[in-house]
Amino acid sequence: MQREQELAIGDALLERIQAGPPPATTRAASIDPSIYTDADRHRREVAAIAASPVAALASSELAEPGSFVTTTLVGTPIIITRDRDGVVHAMRNVCAHRGATVETRESGSARIFSCGFHAWSYELDGSLRSISDASLFSFGPCTTGLRPLRCEERHGIIWITPCADAVDESVADWLDQVDAFFDELGLSDMEHYASTTYELGCNWKLLTDGFLEVYHLKYLHRDSIAPYFPANTFLPRRFGPHFAGWLPKNRLVSNLTEEPRDDWKVLDRLTGAIVLVPGTIVQWQAGHIELFSLRPDPVDPSRSTARLTMMIPSARADETELWERNWERVCVTIPEEDFAAAVDVQRNIDAGMVDRLQIGNNEHALIEHIDAVTERANSTSGRD
Ligand code: FES
Ligand SMILES: [Fe+2]
Repeated sequence: MQREQELAIGDALLERIQAGPPPATTRAASIDPSIYTDADRHRREVAAIAASPVAALASSELAEPGSFVTTTLVGTPIIITRDRDGVVHAMRNVCAHRGATVETRESGSARIFSCGFHAWSYELDGSLRSISDASLFSFGPCTTGLRPLRCEERHGIIWITPCADAVDESVADWLDQVDAFFDELGLSDMEHYASTTYELGCNWKLLTDGFLEVYHLKYLHRDSIAPYFPANTFLPRRFGPHFAGWLPKNRLVSNLTEEPRDDWKVLDRLTGAIVLVPGTIVQWQAGHIELFSLRPDPVDPSRSTARLTMMIPSARADETELWERNWERVCVTIPEEDFAAAVDVQRNIDAGMVDRLQIGNNEHALIEHIDAVTERANSTSGRD
C-alpha cells in the first residue's frame, strides 16, 4: 500500500516537473493584517485549537508504566501519565479541592499524585484516591478527581484535547483522509529522537504559512536547503479539511525523469508537509518526521509556542550520525529562517506598517488555510 501511494505521488510529481510550475491564472489577492492581530478572531481560534487533538508528545517520550509529564497546552495545565497497564491518561493539573497545581515536576515516575496544599491524592488516571483528614472535611463521601481530558495514542503520538468540554471527536475522525496516509507512512513505527520548544513573537498562523508555499524557498533558504531542491516545484494537495504539499529534491527529479518507474524512490527523496487544521504540522523528510505543534498564547495573538519533535524509524535508530546531521539541519533551517521571517512580519504588522498582505496565485494555499481555520473555529463555537 505504501508503495502504491509512493508511486502515485511520483506520477503526479513527474507530471508537475514536465509541465513546469503553473503560471498564475488569477490576480494576486490581498488579506487584511488583522487576521494576525484581531483579539476576537484569536479567541475563537484558540478555542478551536483547544477543542481539537493537539500533538502533545511522541508516545515513546512516555514509554514506561508509571511515568508522567506535565505541560501546558493553549493555557491548560496538564498531567499526562502512563498507568501500570500501559494506558495513557491526561487530566488538568489543577486540584479538585481548591485549585492548586498538583504536580510541579516536569516529568518523572509516580505511584500517586499528592497536592502540596492539603495533601489530597490522586491515582495515575486522575481519580481521587484519598482526602486527608477525611472525617473532618465532610460528613458524606467526596469523590471528585482531576478533570479528565480526551487523550489518545495514534500514529506514535499522544494527542490531547485541552478543552474538557469539547465534543468527543476521535483522532481518526479529525485526521480524516490523513489517517490512512499516516498509516501508509508508518508513523507508528517511529520513535522520539529529539525535541525543543520555541517561544515566538508572532501569530501561530504565520508559522504555518511557511509550510504552505515554496515561493520563498530559493530566497529565504538560499544558504541552507535551497540548493537541494528545484525552484517552484511543489505539488499542493488537500486531504479533506487538511493540507499537504510534496516538494521533490533534485535527486528525485533525476530519479523520476531518468529511471524506470519500478526504481523510483519517492519517499526517500522528497519533503512532504502535512498541515493539520488547526495547529499541527507533520513534515516528512527523507525518512524521518518533524512534528510541529503550534500553541498560540491564549490571550496575545502576537505570541506563540512551537514545540518541534523529530521522530525517526525505530528500525534505523542506530544510524545516529545521519539523525544528528538531520536534527542540526532542522534546527537551523526552520527556526532561524522560516520562524525568524514570521516574527519579522509580525513586528511590522504590530507597528501598523502593513496595510495589506499580497498573496500570489502561487501562495493561494495560505488563503485556503485561513478559510479552513475560520470554518473550524465557527463549527467549534457553534458547539458551545
Ligand atoms: S488545593 Fe489541593 S489539597 Fe487543597
Ligand atoms: Fe521554508
